[in-house]
Amino acid sequence: MTDKTQNAMWGGRFAAGPDAIMEAINASISFDKRLYAQDIAGSRAHAAMLAATGIISDKDAEAIREGLLTVLSEIEGGNFAFSTALEDIHMNVEARLKEVIGAPAGRLHTARSRNDQVATDFRLWVRDQCDAAIEGLTALQKALLAQAEAGADWVMPGFTHLQTAQPVTWGHHMMAYVEMLARDKSRFADARKRMNESPLGAAALAGTGFPIDRAMTAKALGFDRPMANSLDAVSDRDFALEFLSAAVICAVHLSRFAEELVIWSSAQFRFVTLSDRFSTGSSIMPQKKNPDAAELIRAKIGRILGSAVALFTVMKGLPLAYSKDMQEDKEQVFDAADTLMLALAAMTGMVADMTANRANLEKAALSGFSTATDLADWLVREAGLPFRDAHHATGALVALAEKKGCDLPDLSIGEMTSVHPSITQDIYSVLGVQNSVASRKSYGGTAPDQVREQVARWKALIG
Ligand code: ARG
Repeated sequence: MTDKTQNAMWGGRFAAGPDAIMEAINASISFDKRLYAQDIAGSRAHAAMLAATGIISDKDAEAIREGLLTVLSEIEGGNFAFSTALEDIHMNVEARLKEVIGAPAGRLHTARSRNDQVATDFRLWVRDQCDAAIEGLTALQKALLAQAEAGADWVMPGFTHLQTAQPVTWGHHMMAYVEMLARDKSRFADARKRMNESPLGAAALAGTGFPIDRAMTAKALGFDRPMANSLDAVSDRDFALEFLSAAVICAVHLSRFAEELVIWSSAQFRFVTLSDRFSTGSSIMPQKKNPDAAELIRAKIGRILGSAVALFTVMKGLPLAYSKDMQEDKEQVFDAADTLMLALAAMTGMVADMTANRANLEKAALSGFSTATDLADWLVREAGLPFRDAHHATGALVALAEKKGCDLPDLSIGEMTSVHPSITQDIYSVLGVQNSVASRKSYGGTAPDQVREQVARWKALIG
């Protein structure tokens, strides 16, 4: 006689059901229900394989297939009562299948364990998230490309130490992020490729004595091949760690750009105007237009990195094979994925809508002695000075301009020659910011022609 408080799936050896607190710490259904589609897909593939290999009858397999479709539509229609007593998505689905089709449901778990089941479901879910991240990153790249194309020759200050360094172009700055995001995409693509092997059929940890066909289930689920070691298959979560690691790096990129947008939209900079759609107001200061989306994107890295640290910490030191600790993988990855997708979408909207203030960018580029390097380079090129001497002479001219409260092009030729006699009128041709950026034609440099080439290259690649 079975006590009805016993777990229907594993209660055979138990005399009593779990304590309420045990149930609360043990259950994962509140979050792993997100894996329902993957769980049902995995079960369908498994049942079809069990029939194809003669492990179960075609009739039972057909009943299971139909029943799983019913369960799927119940969940999708919001007509499914998830039960904490049934712990997780795997047992919730199987228990409902039994209610729907009766006895054949009991054959579905042949040659399978929740250990390979959850590893399979989760891989499928994370694999989809890699695709989603790549899609989101491509959308953001497109928004950046549009900005870069419009402003390929708009001059702005380039910074080092957030001090004016040399003039660069707006397009060049935008394209820097296009490159970073491309590497983010390749990290997700790479992780996806590596995780695309099937754990299904590893069973609890050692494989199974049933004549299963792992290649068949792997193929049905879009995996490249079955994983070659059953212990590894059920016990590693490196695919989740890779996803989180790629997400962390991507979030760092987004955070840096967000920081720039916060600075650039301030009254002191006015480099960009963010659209009303991606700004908020203040309840007390009527003049305020706050870059909240940028600030939140800047902050989201905290959660994503936190998730990564949490799962790395869970995984370290776990002996092979499965341990329940691994149930803690899902919430971290779910939260990091949701956070990343939202941050990507918000950044894409913000970039698509923002207006770069060309006049302000150029005005800022003109100040701060941004063409001092061009002046030094002129002394090397035209007057034959060693760079170190040219650097020194230019420093003296900057000090002079600073004392006078003017910029380099405002110094008279007399003042110039007083610092170095070989300077001629021609020097003024390199002190303009347009000339400065146009001259930086080296591959990967900021010259508008270089930027246009890069924009064209990327547009051909991603449309
Ligand atoms: N809910 C579990 C998890 O997420 C499923 C695997 C349970 N396996 C077991 N042997 N108790 O890890």
